[in-house]
Amino acid sequence: MEKITIHDKVFKPFIREEQIQERIEVLAEELNAKLGDKSPLFVIMLNGAFLFASELIKRFEGNCEVQFIRAKSYVGLKSSGNVDYSHTNDLNVEERHVVIIEDIVDSGKTLHDFQPILERKLPASISIVSLLVKPDALQYPVQVAHQGFEISNKFVVGYGLDYDELGRNLTSIYQLDEE
Ligand code: IMP
Ligand code: MG
Repeated sequence: MEKITIHDKVFKPFIREEQIQERIEVLAEELNAKLGDKSPLFVIMLNGAFLFASELIKRFEGNCEVQFIRAKSYVGLKSSGNVDYSHTNDLNVEERHVVIIEDIVDSGKTLHDFQPILERKLPASISIVSLLVKPDALQYPVQVAHQGFEISNKFVVGYGLDYDELGRNLTSIYQLDEE
């Protein structure tokens, strides 16, 4: 795998497609064991989580429902500090086991601010699944029940994650190449 350029930045290969797939198999097994008979509601955080969520949910073996939330905070390489959520009014989670599917937990703000919105709607439980977690960037308390990979505090793209909207279609994950 080679370095790639997106907009003005160079990215180097970081997590290969096969490693991602293997990890998703394990996460799916965890979800099947925990929620296989509980008819969970998967809440997918768009845009970044769309590829991860589709691979994960394909491997869920019980009944389940799927809903989408659009959360937007990043502009370029930095979080804007404000998170906008759309489609939250359509969420009917009362007494449901909710599984939030996220691409990456960075500062934690997106999910920290989203959780009270869900809790007001009285779900039976909330579990967070995130493909990536940057522990060194965490500023808000967020409990990730199922995580794919813990990574260092460097910007990544690919497998759904973007740099100013580009890079989501990459099948592997790339990391900002800072010499
Ligand atoms: P948080 O609110 O700071 O936890 O950031 C969460 C959102 O920011 C994620 O859902 C991503 O969409 C985006 N994000 C955070 N870190 C990165 C990154 O390294 N690359 C691309 N997007 C990121
Ligand atoms: Mg996201």
